[in-house]
Amino acid sequence: MTEKAILILGDRRHELPVLTGTEGERALDISKLREQTGLIAYDPSLGNTALCRSEITFTDGERGILRYRGIPIEQFADKPDFVEAAWLLIFGRLPRREELAKFSGLMTANELLHEGVRHQFQHVPPDAPPMALLSATLSNLACYHQEFFSLGDEESLEEAATRLISKVRTIAAFSHRRSLGMPFIYPDPKLRYCANFLHMMFSIPYRQYHISQEVEDALNLIFILHADHELNCSTSTVRIVGSAGANLFASCAAGVCALWGSLHGGANVEVMEMLERISRGGLSPEECIRAAKDKTNPFRLHGFGHRVYRRYDPRAKILKAACERVFAGMERKDPLLDIARKLEELALADPYFVDRNLYPNVDFYSGILLRAIGIPTNMFTVCFAIGRLPGWIAHWKEQHDDPNTKIQRPRQIYTGPNELTYVPMEKR
Ligand code: SDX
Repeated sequence: MTEKAILILGDRRHELPVLTGTEGERALDISKLREQTGLIAYDPSLGNTALCRSEITFTDGERGILRYRGIPIEQFADKPDFVEAAWLLIFGRLPRREELAKFSGLMTANELLHEGVRHQFQHVPPDAPPMALLSATLSNLACYHQEFFSLGDEESLEEAATRLISKVRTIAAFSHRRSLGMPFIYPDPKLRYCANFLHMMFSIPYRQYHISQEVEDALNLIFILHADHELNCSTSTVRIVGSAGANLFASCAAGVCALWGSLHGGANVEVMEMLERISRGGLSPEECIRAAKDKTNPFRLHGFGHRVYRRYDPRAKILKAACERVFAGMERKDPLLDIARKLEELALADPYFVDRNLYPNVDFYSGILLRAIGIPTNMFTVCFAIGRLPGWIAHWKEQHDDPNTKIQRPRQIYTGPNELTYVPMEKR
């Protein structure tokens, strides 16, 4: 029997169904609210509103839980394989050996960019923001893959997905090489996903970049931990754009633009700049904490706080441990890791942060690990996008496959002027 909520407006009572998710989350079904009551609901940052039902990812902000298709992310940490996690998110279960081999084979077969796309890199400024190049080039890919504008079956979705997930590495690496004025390094079909990306980023002609297993594992882990996170800003953007019938390439390009924001995917760059400023002596950790608490100061403690997690972001916990492991393996230290630990210690002992449930989020340690791998700061958000792409594709597919999907079209509460009359210029 469906649970009901009663809404009393004046002398009228309205019944609203209550929906319950598989993890017990409950929601008021207001999909007929305006039709039933003439009223709409108001939820400006959508923090209390579900845009959809989804089977892809589950987070519990109170308990610090994150699961991909039911599997806790902690269980990917031992043998991280980003391509396998991408298949899981997109197709809903762990792949069998032959399915993963086919998916990987399609990645390898589609790792090159059309030379027309490659040439576009010659005509942008050397300091072109990599996220601008990424969103533009994902859109541009659509020009070369018009056969994927309508995706009829899983086969064609898999084809389109592997073009995006494979080529996004090449696009990222080429934009990095362009910024340095270095020759482009083409993908090597003998290399696995993450090793190939690092090869394209750091090899030079006739001198292959050496990639250790721990670095390759660390990058697989970083991409997996960024792969999906329910209806975050960029994933909601991909769903909204996709709901209009826009193709997968255009929808993911829109997701890149949303992720670029400093409050979202751009936070990992802000974290590094904050840690580097402290490292240079421009600011002490204590001054940083004071600035973050000062309401007259727009400064926020980057990498802290989250719309959903009201405790430690489980991804941050895993990334912090990975930082310790990678540095131990490299037998080197990074002063920024010590500064990050000090900031975390100060914040978590400070009632301002604890009372507001502000804990390290995914961005607080990810930058330190990316820097240990040698990724430059201006490429951090691009790496976030490489990781998030399978999540965007999974959500786009889930919505595309749902026959009840309608174009997303929220309403507003109008607070502008009531009816006015046009005043001709001579009378103004
Ligand atoms: C990501 O949605 C997702 O899942 C995103 C993501 C994903 O995987 O897609 O997890 C990735 O975007 C992680 C978040 C990255 N952003 C940052 O690290 C930027 C710094 N963090 C904040 O800007 C903030 O915490 C947000 C944007 C992340 C969350 O904002 P909320 O939940 O809207 O918090 P809020 O603005 O309502 O703040 C509540 C209080 C306020 O103080 P009071 O008005 O109660 O006095 O906490 C304060 C805020 O001023 N606050 C902070 C703070 N974050 C919130 N104060 C200092 N430093 C901070 N970082």
